[in-house]
Amino acid sequence: MAGDLDQQTLERELAGIAGPVRYVEETGSTNSDALDWAAEGAPEGAIVVAENQAAGRGRWGRSWESVPGTSLLFSLVLRPGPEAIGLLTTLAGVGCAAGIRALTGLEPGLKWPNDVILRDRKVAGILVETRVAGSEVTGAVVGIGLNVSSRPEDFSAEVSETATSLAVELEAAGRGGPLGRPALLAGILRQIDQRYREWAPQRLLGEATEKSIILGRSVRVRGPQGDVMEGVARRLTRTGALELEAGGTLAVVESGEVERLDAP
Ligand code: BTN
Repeated sequence: MAGDLDQQTLERELAGIAGPVRYVEETGSTNSDALDWAAEGAPEGAIVVAENQAAGRGRWGRSWESVPGTSLLFSLVLRPGPEAIGLLTTLAGVGCAAGIRALTGLEPGLKWPNDVILRDRKVAGILVETRVAGSEVTGAVVGIGLNVSSRPEDFSAEVSETATSLAVELEAAGRGGPLGRPALLAGILRQIDQRYREWAPQRLLGEATEKSIILGRSVRVRGPQGDVMEGVARRLTRTGALELEAGGTLAVVESGEVERLDAP
């Protein structure tokens, strides 16, 4: 719902779930703001929410675009131990999917490593970034962009074939109704917060496995350097990497862009 985000409403909705909230109408990137805030001492759970980003970013230097009033754009400050840093994207994906499910009844899947999927289209993307001083991580930020009420014409030509929104999916499921972004944000943060506090990596990986739309499937994985591997996506490792079976051997892929080779 356009116009339903403001500082007061967010403070009320997120009380007890998140730390201090900063709402801005317009910024460059909520991830940059949250990283700056973390460096200035923001407590764990601090959150930056924006209506619009002039330089929203995705993985691998891509941009993240959205039409004001149609999305949730937010970044959460965390201070995880070294053992948890590698699993933050998994945590965010599982939490985001669980929150969407709790609030809409839709059943999102996860496409490793950072996409939340509905009917084989991307409804949300996750970008975890850390800032390091020497060998110490001074803060980690979990950034999520979720398409809430976007219409097909809101998507750029580049993503129009692969993106969707909650409103489009609810309509396709024969259910409508306005979606309040503050409640949605609270629902997602609640799910992330709960799993972060209890920190049970095996359970988290179990949930990510259950929701995965690629495990057990034939896939093509493009690495950050443009290298390509094909094989069967077998499992998620303890650090959140993907194990790929290719030519009778198992390869561990730390980062990549996955394409399913079978029809969805
Ligand atoms: C991806 O799919 O490549 C990740 C997209 C992450 C986008 C979100 S929007 C809020 C936060 N701020 C950013 O600049 N990026 C993330």
